[in-house]
Amino acid sequence: MCLDMGGMSCSKIGSRRCEAVASPVMAAPPQLISETEIRARVDQLATQIDEDYADVDLLVLIGVLKGSFIFLSDLARKLSVPHRVEFIAVESYGDRQSEQPESVRLLMDVRHDIGGEHVLLVEDIVDTGRTLAYLQRLLVTRRPASLKTCTLLHKPDRTEESVTLDYWGFTIPDVWVVGYGLDYAERYRTLPYIAELPPEMR
Ligand code: PRP
Repeated sequence: MCLDMGGMSCSKIGSRRCEAVASPVMAAPPQLISETEIRARVDQLATQIDEDYADVDLLVLIGVLKGSFIFLSDLARKLSVPHRVEFIAVESYGDRQSEQPESVRLLMDVRHDIGGEHVLLVEDIVDTGRTLAYLQRLLVTRRPASLKTCTLLHKPDRTEESVTLDYWGFTIPDVWVVGYGLDYAERYRTLPYIAELPPEMR
């Protein structure tokens, strides 16, 4: 996740920082949530989801690219309930200098129809909530049998949109986080832990 001081993703606003070429040597930003904590929480979430979907023949997991790819792969491998993995990709766009709020648009849709299916949308982070609100509005039009949401991280202080969260891993303060799928200018996604990215590392 790439948040500037205004809380906007630089990939969303086309900041020049996002065009920077990653340095071959990157210092590790300080840890906010450890690998051990993430692993334990993913296990708990999987157990809860297995219980909640115990009577379901098939659960469709929809990962929101790119940020969810590591969380989704770890969560999916812990689930016992039969499941199918799908991906969807969106991007936010807009001009933070203007009065207009950012909008979200679809970049890549799921591959198969989800009509009549039990769907669990998997996000890495809910920040303003705009992405999730957009996806919930979009997917409900496809008439799934059920639609729930699981996010690893939630920043309640930043969430503006009214969104429903059924499962969440950690509630975090309004800090700039990277790792475990979340990026800053495409860096740090593969850190095994969640880190807080200090200003001097942006
Ligand atoms: C991040 C994250 C969520 C979204 C949350 O994606 O993966 O999809 O932002 O922000 P919101 O609650 O304010 O809408 P990002 O735009 O950074 O793209 P990426 O996942 O491809 O890195």
